[in-house]
Amino acid sequence: MKATSPPTIRPVKVGVLGCGAHAHIHGRVVSDAPGAVLAACADIDAAKAADWAARWHCGASFGSLSDMLTATDLDAVILATWPVGHAAEIAACLNRGVKYILCEKALCLSGEEASSILEQSRSAGAVVLEAVMYRYHPAIGRLEELLASGSLGRIDSIRAVFSNFEPDSPTPGKTKDWRLKAECGGGVSHDWMSYCVNAANYLAGGVPTRVFASGTRGSESGVVTSLFAQIEYSNGVTASLESSRNGSFSQLLSVCTEGGRLNLPVAWGIFGDVTLSVERRKPEWDYIVTERFPITHRNPFALQFAHFLEVAAGQGTPRIPLIESVVNAYTIDAILSSARAHEAVAQILPENISAERISAQPMRKEHP
Ligand SMILES: NC(=O)c1ccc[n+]([C@@H]2O[C@H](COP(=O)([O-])OP(=O)(O)OC[C@H]3O[C@@H](n4cnc5c(N)ncnc54)[C@H](O)[C@@H]3O)[C@@H](O)[C@H]2O)c1
Repeated sequence: MKATSPPTIRPVKVGVLGCGAHAHIHGRVVSDAPGAVLAACADIDAAKAADWAARWHCGASFGSLSDMLTATDLDAVILATWPVGHAAEIAACLNRGVKYILCEKALCLSGEEASSILEQSRSAGAVVLEAVMYRYHPAIGRLEELLASGSLGRIDSIRAVFSNFEPDSPTPGKTKDWRLKAECGGGVSHDWMSYCVNAANYLAGGVPTRVFASGTRGSESGVVTSLFAQIEYSNGVTASLESSRNGSFSQLLSVCTEGGRLNLPVAWGIFGDVTLSVERRKPEWDYIVTERFPITHRNPFALQFAHFLEVAAGQGTPRIPLIESVVNAYTIDAILSSARAHEAVAQILPENISAERISAQPMRKEHP
C-alpha cells in the first residue's frame, strides 16, 4: 500500500504595518511561530521598514500600506502603528480582502470609529482582534479561574491602575514619543488607560452605565496626562481606574469580592514570574490571611499570536470579541467627556451595542 504523506498546511502570510519600537516584539514572535511567515512589512519611513525586514528576515518591505497590499497577497496583517491611524488602516486592509487583522491597542480613538470597524469587519467576513496581550498571560487565566470557581463569591468592586512618572517633555537628544503627540492619538486615554478599561469592563460582568472622571493635560504636550475614573455597571459592580503619567509606578489589578481581595501587583506588562494573592479576613476580627499563587512567566505576546493563528485556522473564536473592544472605546469616550465637563456621564453605550454585549457575555449576578 502506498504511504500517504500528511496534508501540508500553508503557513499564514503575515504583513506588519509600522516598524517602530513595538513592531520588534511582533517580529520576534511571528519569526518564532510555526505556521506563520513574515511576508511583508511597511512603514511611512521606508528605510526603517527595510531595516526591520532585514532584521526579521521578512520577505519584502514597503513605504506605505497601499504598496504592501498591492504587491503582496497577505492572509493577515498586524497593525503596530499609532492609534490615530488604526481605523483607516483596518478599512484599507478589509477593502483589499485581508481576512485577519491583529490591531495594537487602542483599537481606535472613538466608539463611533469602533462601531464602524465592527460593521465593516462583519460585512467583509473578517476577524479584527485588538492586541491586548495581558489577557493571554497565565496570571490572568488564574485570576479568571479563581473568580469562576465561586469560592470568592460575587465581585463588589475592581481597581485598575496603570501609572508611571513620565516627564511631559521629550528626553533631550531623543525623538518625541508618539505618546506625547496629540496628532498620533497620544496621551493616557488610548494608551495606559485602555488596559484599565479593558480589565474593568471584562471582569465586571455587566455593562457600564455611568462614569465620573477627572484628569489633567500636559502643559507642554497638550495630551491627556492623567485620568481618574469611577464606573458603575448594570449589575451593581463599581470600578475605580487610575492612569497617570504624573504619579509613580503602579500596574495594579485588584478585585474585591464578597469573600476576599484578589491582587495582581503587576497586571499589564508582566515580564517575569508574578504572584497573585488573595487576602481574606480570618474569623478573628483583625487578622488577614494571605493565600499566594506564584505564576510562572510565559510570553503573552507569543500566546496572543498563537491564539490569532488558531482563529485564522478556523480553530477558535477571538478571545476578545470585537464587540468588547467597541464597548471599551465608548467607555473611554465617556471618561474623556466626564473629565472635560466635570460631570457624570450616564449614557455610555448606544442601545444596540449594549444589547449585543449583554447577549454575548454571561452577566454576573445583580447585587441586591
Ligand atoms: N502591547 C504592548 O505592550 C504595546 C507596547 C508598546 C506599544 N504598543 C502599541 O503599538 C503601537 C505602536 O507603538 P510604538 O511604541 O511601536 O510606536 P512607534 O512610534 O515606535 O512606531 C510606530 C511606527 O508606525 C509608523 N507609522 C505610523 N503611521 C503609519 C502609517 N500610516 N503607515 C505606515 N507606518 C506608519 C511610524 O513611522 C513608526 O515607525 C501603538 O498602538 C501602541 O499602543 C503596544
